Amino acid sequence: MPRLTNLEPKPPPSAGPFLGHGVGLRVPHYSRALDGTLDVDWIEVISENFFGPGGRPRAVLERARRQMPVVLHGVSMGIGSPNEPSPSYLDRLDELARWVEPAWISDHLSWSHLGGQHSHDLLPLPYTEEAIDHVVQNVQHVQDRLGRQILLENVSSYVGYHASTMPEWEFLAEVARRADCFLLLDLNNIVVSGKNHDFQPEAYLAAIPGDRVRQFHLANHDDRGAYKFDNHRGAVPKEVWALFEAALRRFGPVSSLVEWDEDVPDWDTLRQEQRIAEGLAKSVLGRAGRVSRPA
Ligand SMILES: [Fe+2]
Repeated sequence: MPRLTNLEPKPPPSAGPFLGHGVGLRVPHYSRALDGTLDVDWIEVISENFFGPGGRPRAVLERARRQMPVVLHGVSMGIGSPNEPSPSYLDRLDELARWVEPAWISDHLSWSHLGGQHSHDLLPLPYTEEAIDHVVQNVQHVQDRLGRQILLENVSSYVGYHASTMPEWEFLAEVARRADCFLLLDLNNIVVSGKNHDFQPEAYLAAIPGDRVRQFHLANHDDRGAYKFDNHRGAVPKEVWALFEAALRRFGPVSSLVEWDEDVPDWDTLRQEQRIAEGLAKSVLGRAGRVSRPA
């Protein structure tokens, strides 16, 4: 931890470790991992894209993990689905994790499996005590199987349930507390859902316990007037950067990650987004807002 001068703000404690500011590594930039030019603090990869042993994806990961911390981010665990996550899925994730030794593993607080069918959408849950009990049981099962705590990410949503008895932030905080897991706050998803469900993103942040927040996602969305739509295509909008600054003030030095999944731009454009995150963190937190990278 760098020493702070009297002129720098003292950040609140966070649920570290603090990796700095990274990007989601996608196929167009795999060659950067192979030639050693990933000039960001850390990378996140989609777990399922690396389940098969060998081949180019594993070669990419092998090189990347020698250069910087790597985080595994899953999209199909379906932790809130009626059944437990599939044993074969967890076997493959466990094998990958043992091989890559990620800084941590994350997936979404959503459901996606029902009666043998699988949805590619990350479907929101009803926010009820019954759903908390169910999700907590599944998270504990996954954590026992993997031998580590995981991070759960809030999803963007376009519908809600009449059955819900509490706001999303209360549900998220209670799941994290009772399952003893960590949280990945997707700030873009909070902005999107805030518009779609008429809540203030800052109120969401205020209700989340800081000792559970280990990562932020930063991404883009479409504003379609009556609603916002999560798209991960394009630069992070001002509204999300503003919430990032508020989140840094609220939670201190938390690792940030730019997600750009559609129409992935050239590396310099992606890197520019990561630099903005780094610059904002430095302006809010002083030297505590960044990590030193080897030259
Ligand atoms: Fe995300």
